[in-house]
Amino acid sequence: MKLNTGSVVWLSFISTSSAHYVFSRLIINNGWTKDFIYVRPLSPLTGNASDWYHTLKPNEDPTSLTFRCGPNATISGSQTKTADVTAGDTVGFGVGEPHFQYGNFKYDVPRLYHPGPASAWLSKAPDDDLDAYTGDGDWFKILSVITRTNQSIPITSAVLAPFQAQWGTYLATSWNFTIPATTPPGKYLLRFEHILAGLKNGTGYGHNEQYYANCAQLNIVNDGEVGDPSPKVKLPGIYAKNQPEFMFDIWDKTKNVSDFQMPGPAVWQG
Ligand SMILES: *[C@@H]1O[C@H](CO)[C@@H](O)[C@H](O)[C@H]1NC(C)=O
Ligand SMILES: *[C@@H]1O[C@H](CO)[C@@H](O)[C@H](O)[C@H]1NC(C)=O
Ligand SMILES: *[C@@H]1O[C@H](CO)[C@@H](O)[C@H](O)[C@H]1NC(C)=O
Ligand SMILES: *[C@@H]1O[C@H](CO)[C@@H](O)[C@H](O)[C@H]1NC(C)=O
Ligand SMILES: *[C@@H]1O[C@H](CO)[C@@H](O)[C@H](O)[C@H]1NC(C)=O
Ligand SMILES: *[C@@H]1O[C@H](CO)[C@@H](O)[C@H](O)[C@H]1NC(C)=O
Repeated sequence: MKLNTGSVVWLSFISTSSAHYVFSRLIINNGWTKDFIYVRPLSPLTGNASDWYHTLKPNEDPTSLTFRCGPNATISGSQTKTADVTAGDTVGFGVGEPHFQYGNFKYDVPRLYHPGPASAWLSKAPDDDLDAYTGDGDWFKILSVITRTNQSIPITSAVLAPFQAQWGTYLATSWNFTIPATTPPGKYLLRFEHILAGLKNGTGYGHNEQYYANCAQLNIVNDGEVGDPSPKVKLPGIYAKNQPEFMFDIWDKTKNVSDFQMPGPAVWQG
């Protein structure tokens, strides 16, 4: 499909002020799968099948259904493959390829372009029916990435360095993590979340925090010890609009990401 004029205008806008990205590729068995095979596909919320502009602009509302798994991803289970993994395995999410085209829209950046925290979550489908599962059940957190780790990519230059580069996922193209070894077996949505934090009152930027999330489908096998995941929460429901922790002046050079307090539930260690 050809990129239409409207999208070109949009792309030149987002490349300067709100560049964004999508976690469309599940990483399993040390390999990247293709876009939206194991990750739930998206569709326009307006019901206008061509309206990718409103579908894929960054989500600024952590109380919306889009916050859960992306626009209309509650209803695309039957279009998604389910990956078999064993509890204790390493999985990951990769960002969609450069200029990955979706409908008449192209994502412009193949990396976690913005500074902010990342997390991963699991939610078990009732009766193991992932096709029908909207994700309205219980979720538990299995990963939180705030400061830099051995997966963080070296930053040689950044607009707001060094503060921006203190975030662990800053400019990463993928992130890998372990499914806890005692996760109960069953069919799950696996959600990856990344938040653009700290621009709200910053001089020069001043747009809202943004919430990026997508969900893959997993069949988790576990013939070993089984734990009791907790705490459990509903999504949306963990952050408010203008969540105070995400709102600070990004130009404040005295800021240290080590001091950042992530709101929401604790990570279940398994
Ligand atoms: C995640 O794993 C994939 C597959 O092994 C690898 O290509 C990628 O570089 C890893 N990502 C990071 C951030 O280490
Ligand atoms: C996506 O959701 C919206 C609002 O709920 C609905 O109007 C629209 O038709 C949905 N799109 C598809 C492809 O089902
Ligand atoms: C549907 O979206 C397309 C692409 O943005 C737009 O050109 C068209 O006017 C929209 N149709 C309606 C009925 O709003
Ligand atoms: C990275 O750190 C994790 C623990 O946080 C460790 O299991 C892994 O072996 C480390 N990888 C490398 C390449 O150092
Ligand atoms: C943003 O800055 C204005 C002006 O300094 C201040 O009144 C307001 O409380 C700030 N809001 C937040 C959320 O920090
Ligand atoms: C942030 O604080 C940590 C822990 O106190 C310290 O190790 C690190 O050097 C600080 N980073 C910056 C950029 O000041």
